[in-house]
Amino acid sequence: MVQSPISRITVIGGGQMGSGIAQVAATHKHEVTLVDVNQEALDRGKSYMAKSLKRVAKKKFAEDEAAQSRFVDEIMGRVSLSTKPQEAVSRADLVIEAIVENIKVKQDLFAQLSKAAPQEAILASNTSSLPIGKIAELLDEQRKQRFIGLHFFNPVPQMKLVEVVRTKEVEQDVVDSAVAWVKAIGKAPAVCKDTPGFIVNRLLLPYMMESIRLLERDVASAQDIDTAMKLGAGYPMGPFELCDYVGLDTIKFIVDGWHKDGEGLKGNPLFTSSKKLDELVKQGRLGVKSGKGFYDY
Ligand code: CAA
Ligand code: NAD
Repeated sequence: MVQSPISRITVIGGGQMGSGIAQVAATHKHEVTLVDVNQEALDRGKSYMAKSLKRVAKKKFAEDEAAQSRFVDEIMGRVSLSTKPQEAVSRADLVIEAIVENIKVKQDLFAQLSKAAPQEAILASNTSSLPIGKIAELLDEQRKQRFIGLHFFNPVPQMKLVEVVRTKEVEQDVVDSAVAWVKAIGKAPAVCKDTPGFIVNRLLLPYMMESIRLLERDVASAQDIDTAMKLGAGYPMGPFELCDYVGLDTIKFIVDGWHKDGEGLKGNPLFTSSKKLDELVKQGRLGVKSGKGFYDY
């Protein structure tokens, strides 16, 4: 197991990604504080974590219910909850933001956090699509040198990869520390430049959008396209199952943002939303999280 001096983590945003990141860090013996806007959101985040840990525990200690509970309780015992971001980062070695995908909200959050986090703390964003350098725009030079992208994948407990995104300003020792920490929590890092979509989403989003356009042209049903990609290309989920899993609002937000002003992607037809996607989002059919998307859940 790779060691890392990072031990106190604060995760801001307790949704599907933030709670997953907190769970994985706590599983690897880190002291974690999970922050969200109110107690209700925190309770939701806590219940995501407990549910996911129970699944892991059931597999690990199949016949032993007491051991399952001990496993879950021990990990949950390392997670504290807070609605006060400044207080929650005051002792952090690493702060990971996983809040709503909105540049202004993220910039304002980091401006607030930079007043309270230790100077040597690493600040990181889990954004799917926004430039890391732009999220750090309001910070001073010293903070920018310790600001990085740490892009996890959904579902966090299961997906091995973390993209480590380097900005123009970030110092090499921060990249090295981030890479070591990713390994220490049992994940595999891939380092890349701060460009739209980094590696995975730059390739995944056109694939998702082209799948939706196949459906719009009535080439095949969603079920048959999913079957084709699972059995013909070996993907664990078909593109429509995956779109529903990620969230159709998230996908629309990403392509709309890049179409409007993504560096090198602006106006590219591959990164244009589609009538079908727009309609589903307008109807509130956002995928698994809303109970309906391309499929009903
Ligand atoms: N938490 C804990 N354990 C979990 C889990 C979770 N959320 N999900 C699965 N598991 C574990 C459990 O032990 C489970 O066993 P039980 O069902 O007995 O509890 C075991 O894994 C197998 O679960 P499934 O049968 O549900 O899993 P599967 O083999 O079908 O795999 C999957 C599920 C990992 C999600 C797989 O379908 C997959 O890899 N799908 C593709 C996901 C993907 O591409 N994600 C990236 C999205 S893009 C992104 O995230 C970036 C972005 O910015 C938008
Ligand atoms: P989500 O909607 O499930 O969770 C977001 C959480 O952030 C909510 O609980 C919300 O209450 C909280 N929040 C919003 N504003 C906040 C603030 N100012 N302070 C504290 N908490 C706040 O979203 P998610 O799917 O977990 O996505 C979070 C981030 O991760 C986004 O940047 C997204 O692009 C990125 N991401 C998403 C996926 C995915 O597949 N969904 C994958 C990788 C990265």
